[in-house]
Amino acid sequence: MKTYIVGNWKLNFTVGEASIYLHKLLKNLPNYRDVEVVVAPSLIALQPLSLQIDRHKMKLAAQNAFYRDYGAFTGEVSFSQLRGIVDYAIIGHSERRYIFREDDKMVAKKVAAAIRNKITPILCIGETESERAFGETADVIRDQLIGGLSEVSDDDLDKVIIAYEPVWAISSVRECKLATPDEISEVVKLIKKALKDTYGANLAEKVPILFGGSVNPSNAGSYLTVPGINGLLIGGASLILGEFTDIMEIAKRVRA
Ligand code: PGA
Repeated sequence: MKTYIVGNWKLNFTVGEASIYLHKLLKNLPNYRDVEVVVAPSLIALQPLSLQIDRHKMKLAAQNAFYRDYGAFTGEVSFSQLRGIVDYAIIGHSERRYIFREDDKMVAKKVAAAIRNKITPILCIGETESERAFGETADVIRDQLIGGLSEVSDDDLDKVIIAYEPVWAISSVRECKLATPDEISEVVKLIKKALKDTYGANLAEKVPILFGGSVNPSNAGSYLTVPGINGLLIGGASLILGEFTDIMEIAKRVRA
């Protein structure tokens, strides 16, 4: 299985800034064999950047899209419109769940729409600080995971990536905390068990699991060595070219 290094730029960078960043990144980016490098710029930058990138070296992801392919949905962009422009889409990020009120039903429809349009969904799941404090982590993880996958057929399970992002560890959350490798490992076990119980062991082991939450070059190595972790989803540090490339190098070393 590949190691995925995914940069989530959120609402940052103009189209021009994004293009300059990618120009610099591509200039020195080796062709990593086992590390899949992905960035998720703003929607408006995706089309021009798709003409700029070298897909042998890296891929693009959308941060969101709407689940219907076309119709009277003012302001939305569909996965079908993104087909051929992006290879991945981040779906169900906690900012979408809590700021834009996306529930598991909507997340499930988006995951299905991505697959239908040949885009790999990166389904984000994770508990809040209070859910953890009340001992609800296992239930939340299971509900978001199985809920988000509810429209995916068994045959398509190998087209999905899961990202575990505890909301309390995301750098933009006030007084965020760093997750420990042990805490991540516990949740990876929960995810694997839920996948196994629902889809069987063979299918379950094909699903990559990423970790996200305040990842930077000093903790990336310890997170990448958590058993069952296949990559990282990086917010803040992915905006700093040097930090993002350092994390790729760490991923390459961990693989070697
Ligand atoms: P962070 O963001 O790395 O800045 O914590 C991760 C994310 O929200 O995907």
